[in-house]
Amino acid sequence: MYLTAEEQRILNGERGWAYEVSMKILVRLGDLFNATRLIPVKSAHISGVSYKTIGDAPIDFLEALAKADGKVKVSSTVNPSGFDPDYLAKRFPKEYQGKQKRIIDLYKQMGVDAVLTCTPYYLQQPKPNWHLAWAESSAVVYANSVLKSWTNREGGPSALAAALIGKTPNCGVHQAENRQPSIVVRVEANPRNEAEFGALGIYSGKMLKDKIPVFEGLTKYVYDDLKQLGAGLASSGMTSIFHYQKPIARTRIETISIERNDMKNAVESLSTTQQAPDLIFIGCPHCSLKEIETVAQALEGKRVKNETELWVCTSRHVKNMAKGYVDIIEKAGGHVLCDTCAVVTWIKNLGFNALMTNSAKTAYYAPTLNNVDAILAPLKTCINAACA
Ligand code: F3S
Repeated sequence: MYLTAEEQRILNGERGWAYEVSMKILVRLGDLFNATRLIPVKSAHISGVSYKTIGDAPIDFLEALAKADGKVKVSSTVNPSGFDPDYLAKRFPKEYQGKQKRIIDLYKQMGVDAVLTCTPYYLQQPKPNWHLAWAESSAVVYANSVLKSWTNREGGPSALAAALIGKTPNCGVHQAENRQPSIVVRVEANPRNEAEFGALGIYSGKMLKDKIPVFEGLTKYVYDDLKQLGAGLASSGMTSIFHYQKPIARTRIETISIERNDMKNAVESLSTTQQAPDLIFIGCPHCSLKEIETVAQALEGKRVKNETELWVCTSRHVKNMAKGYVDIIEKAGGHVLCDTCAVVTWIKNLGFNALMTNSAKTAYYAPTLNNVDAILAPLKTCINAACA
């Protein structure tokens, strides 16, 4: 990979260890994926923040970077952490609280904006054709497919390296030719709700692996549905972009069909129990303002049962905009939580055994990552299950 004289100096350690090691990560990745050079990015979004998901091992690396005076060069944000400081933190041991705070403080020391959300695009929406270095897979798919920005699926370390250098290798979907669809997914019946959109993502992601799909037959959807579709796709497959608008002129490519029955089976297969849930979780990926409004409307005049908890997870930015809706949800006994989600916290340690969610991504991960049963259902069913 070609490096400018300045980049070569950074690689040689002239700017200090933090930048040297970051440049090494980017060069290694670039060589691996046949990049020809580094290109500037407008922003970085870094995963690997929750103490539950990363544990102790990466803390030393973050300490070393911060100690070596590493500072981000571009606008940089981070994914959710293991708990919020208000509602959940006090339910966990002091040790967890200290470790989680240390991780967040180290990112802050490097100049990262500690937004602790997986939907950074609600805070600052990237423009079409902007190059980014984002690590959260659901956000990557949303950015590429819906916002038409350009980002590979970074890992936590490579997103942080890109944040410190302000650049990323020009490989993968940073190249126009690598963004073209390679398979048609013919959807025979439009998904009926957000849970089915997510299940469609999980179902097709398993078949597609890293092929780029163009979905045909999606006749009715809102952006939040596409968010669920992308989050599902990225969970069960390696896709970082999908197409869904009018089919583009193309030579003949492989086509697969997805029938209503496939979608129904996909939803059913994402439910592992028929027992009553003790946690209802909405907000994977973190809720948009519209989704919070929909939750509030569904809760109007209802009350969350004593034996159930209702969590609605979002970013602080969206929560601040949604004050009126947040009041309705909290008056009904629900909790609007920021900085975290049910997957990246220890729900089993909190005593939950079965979670109901409208997110196929959460239903896909919860049985293995959280060791709880999962039930996938649309929002209205979730709210009814939460209430007396
Ligand atoms: Fe976000 Fe947690 Fe889902 S980080 S994408 S809400 S698993």
